[in-house]
Amino acid sequence: MRLVFDILIAVSMALSLTLYFRGVRALRARTERGIRWYEAAAFALGWITIAAALLSPIDTWSDVLFSVHMTQHELLMIIAAPLLVAGRPMIAGMWGVSEHTRNAILNILRTPRALKAWHAMTHPVVVLVLHAVVLWAWHIPDAFEAALHNETIHAVQHLTFFVTAALFWWSLIHGRYGRVGYGVAVFFVFATAMHTSILGALFTFAQRLIYPSYGSLEDQQLAGLIMWIPSGVIFIVAALALFAAWLGESARRSNASALMLLACLLLTSACNKYRGDRLAEARQLTGGDPDRGELAIRRYGCGTCHTIPGIPGASATVGPPLDKLGVRTYLAGRLSNTPDNLMRWIRDPQSVDPKTAMPSMNVTERDGRDIAAYLYTLQ
Ligand code: HEC
Repeated sequence: MRLVFDILIAVSMALSLTLYFRGVRALRARTERGIRWYEAAAFALGWITIAAALLSPIDTWSDVLFSVHMTQHELLMIIAAPLLVAGRPMIAGMWGVSEHTRNAILNILRTPRALKAWHAMTHPVVVLVLHAVVLWAWHIPDAFEAALHNETIHAVQHLTFFVTAALFWWSLIHGRYGRVGYGVAVFFVFATAMHTSILGALFTFAQRLIYPSYGSLEDQQLAGLIMWIPSGVIFIVAALALFAAWLGESARRSNASALMLLACLLLTSACNKYRGDRLAEARQLTGGDPDRGELAIRRYGCGTCHTIPGIPGASATVGPPLDKLGVRTYLAGRLSNTPDNLMRWIRDPQSVDPKTAMPSMNVTERDGRDIAAYLYTLQ
């Protein structure tokens, strides 16, 4: 079955490339304002990205690792889709076919009903909601597992991811945003960036496997980060580009300092949100308070043996460094890294292993919680 889909993909890709470049040539022969070279380059890059996502080892490995599967989906949705759309494929494709076919297609597309449907389908609100629904719905465990076990469902998943993403980018790049519209567009990109990062964060912070077919929690966390961080960056760049276009448009008051201000605001709010998430997460896991934990760590002098980020003077190397404790799988090479085990280790490491070189320091239950909370903010 997989082979059938691979052949189908390869054939339609070869066809689309031929049509596109025939169209580019036909247009060039006919008019000055055809497809620009950079539009054709964008299309070619998008095309290569699709080939890399669907017909390379990425596709084989996506069965084994969730993080690779996520990479595949991100390639389709946030790299290939905008690049292909930027290449104005409809216009090129239209000129890639014979005059007879072109007229036939145009006759259909020009009917009021088709125009209305296309207008509705590329309306900013519609594309925003459609893409969000498709993205979230496919990540429901049952749906995702079904796609993993059935090639046809899997193909539908990829197709809907790609098509709704392409519509989303279409409405942004070629959409009907007038002078006021760019502001709306910026908002739409933000809304999408937001819900995508929330979904990514859910995977990153989940403490158990969401899709049983993939066996590793670390792999799941990596997949979450791939959805969260790189796509966040791409959306922010898109928002900034729209914002710049907006400034340029508003009577050429192109104002670099306003742009800088926006960039700073975006970055600080992104960092604050990330920090806020980590603090809340650490609190929730341990029931402790990271800020009090920081003070407790200083009081007990954990820094005389450990290097601990964020604690002044804690740079000793008697014990292992405690950086990234929030994302480790094991504690002291023996215990799996759960909040309870961490608290137990902090309060009484000798009870875990009487021979360990870390002394029991009579840490109170409350302090143990707070210290564990602080350590879980280290990622
Ligand atoms: C006398 C030195 C010493 C002090 C003080 C000390 N530790 Fe340790 N700690 C160690 C050593 C040595 C290990 C490695 C133990 C092992 O693997 O058996 C360790 C391991 C740990 C680990 C597991 C680290 C890992 O890489 O998995 C944590 C967490 C930890 N200590 C937290 C603390 C905290 C919190 C304090 C302060 C309350 C503290 N330690 C005080 C020596 C110390």
